Order: sequence, then C-alpha cells, then structure tokens
Amino acid sequence: ECKKARAYSSSANLGSGFDILSMAHTAFFDTIEICVENKNSGDIVIESNSNIPLEPTKNSATYPIVRIMEERGIKASLRVKVIKGIPEGLGLGSSGASAAAAVMAFNNLFKLNLSKEEVVRYAMYGEIASSGSPHPDNVAASVFGGVVSVVSVNPVKVVEIPLNYSFNILLFVPLNVHIEEKTKKAREMVPKTVKLSEYINNSRYMSSLLIGFVKGERDLIRLGLNDEIVEKARLPLFPYYPKIKQIAIKYDAIGSCVSGAGPSILVLTDKMTDENKIAEEGTKTCNEFNVECKVIKAKI
Ligand code: HSE
Repeated sequence: ECKKARAYSSSANLGSGFDILSMAHTAFFDTIEICVENKNSGDIVIESNSNIPLEPTKNSATYPIVRIMEERGIKASLRVKVIKGIPEGLGLGSSGASAAAAVMAFNNLFKLNLSKEEVVRYAMYGEIASSGSPHPDNVAASVFGGVVSVVSVNPVKVVEIPLNYSFNILLFVPLNVHIEEKTKKAREMVPKTVKLSEYINNSRYMSSLLIGFVKGERDLIRLGLNDEIVEKARLPLFPYYPKIKQIAIKYDAIGSCVSGAGPSILVLTDKMTDENKIAEEGTKTCNEFNVECKVIKAKI
C-alpha cells in the first residue's frame, strides 16, 4: 500500500520574525510517496529525482519518519519516493516541505490521526537532518498554509494569522548560487546577543506586520516587513537585497524581505504595484552582482 502527500514552498522570517513567522506559497511544491514493502528488513529505501542524502537519518523527509516509528514502536519496511519541486538551499523551505509531506503521507498510511501541530513536531526533525537545528517555521507554513506564527516550540503551538489584505507574491530566486550547508552557515551569522534598541525596533516591526495582516492595513504591512538584526547580519549572502528592496518600494510594492535564510527575496504586491518594472529592474540588479535571478509569481 502507498500514500502520497504534497507540501508547498514557504518564506520564513518575514523580516523580524526570525524562527517565528512564515508564509506558504504556490511557487513550488514537493511530493512524497511512501509505500509499505512486503519485507521484514525494517529498511527505509529512498528514491529521488534530486541529489539528496539516501541515508534515512540524514534525509529531511525520512528522519522524521524514523523518529515517529521509534516513538510509536512501528515496524515496517518502507520505500520513500521524494519528488523535489522546490529548489534546495535558496530559502524556500525545501527541506521543511519534504519533511511536512513525508509526515503527512506517513500519517495517512498508518492512520495515526496526528493533529497538524503533531505533524509539525515530527516534521521539525527534518530540519535537524538538513541544518542541525530544529526550527519549525517553514514546516509550520507548509503544514498549515497561509501565514503562521510559531508561538511555542516545546510544546509546538502554531497560530494561523488571519489575512485581511489580499496580495500577490514575487520571488527573486538566484538559480546559479549554491552554498554548501547554507542554512547552517546562515544561522552561524546571526548574532548571539542584540542591543535593546534593535530588539525594540524589531518587536515594533513584528507587531506592525501582524496587526497589518489582521486589520488589512497596507502601510502597517510595509513597515512590518523590516528587520535590523538577522537580515543585516546575513547581508553578505544576498548583497543585491537592499537595492531590490528599494526598487520594490519605488514601484509601490507592499514591501519586501529576505525569504528565509536567503538568498531568495520575497516581494509582496497588489494592484498598486508595477510588478513588471520590479521584475525587470530587480533582475538587472541581480546581474550586477553576477547572480542569475529567476522571477517567480505566486500566490499565498
Ligand atoms: N528561520 C530559519 C532561518 C529559516 O532564518 O535560519 C531557515 O530555513
């Protein structure tokens, strides 16, 4: 017997919400199929269209499954097909989506009746497999959809943010950039301590963003899509970002921020925005930094 599940790409952080906020989008998706094999070996065999680790404890789709099976005493031989649609290492929640889809497929296959938060808790292990740290933001967005806030990690608690402003998404995805273990490195760039003034400013941004979404206020969303701590520390990973942000504002986007740990950039747009100009000038800006950006239009 086999079960399949799909999970979408996401942009974590949304400016000041490092490891807290995340937005799922239709830009890309991963599909996972899990089949129970008629064998007693207890092996997990991985097949993929992509060059991912084939060791179950090192693979972000299968490590969560290893953990569920251990915790719940489930014994089975599995064949796991990982069909990657989300490009990896570009800040689009690729490993989180694989992990989320794998846990959803496993949940259906073994009729475990896991709640969405339990799915997030297990899928979070996929992030340990890929980056060494169990940040649940991308996973939560892929499981719940929309914009989510992870308000607690242990126990996992996820709040779905009501969105009362309708917007579209433009993503600048630098396709010719590959940094080995990017998320791990990007996390090492984040400062261990921050100044009180930076903390206050970032808290202002996050409250502005959340209230902007809930009340449907464009100006608050724009102000909220800022950050003075994490994006700033990671700027060497995406040096074109400040200029793309300026271009986005010049052509009246709602706002923009770095997608997850980068190097992709997220721009939120609406009917006031000249999307074509942003795409054109933003692509040129990437080129000035010797980066080939693909512009993807998506919805939440
Ligand atoms: N919140 C995480 C980070 C997302 O910025 O490191 C990584 O995918």
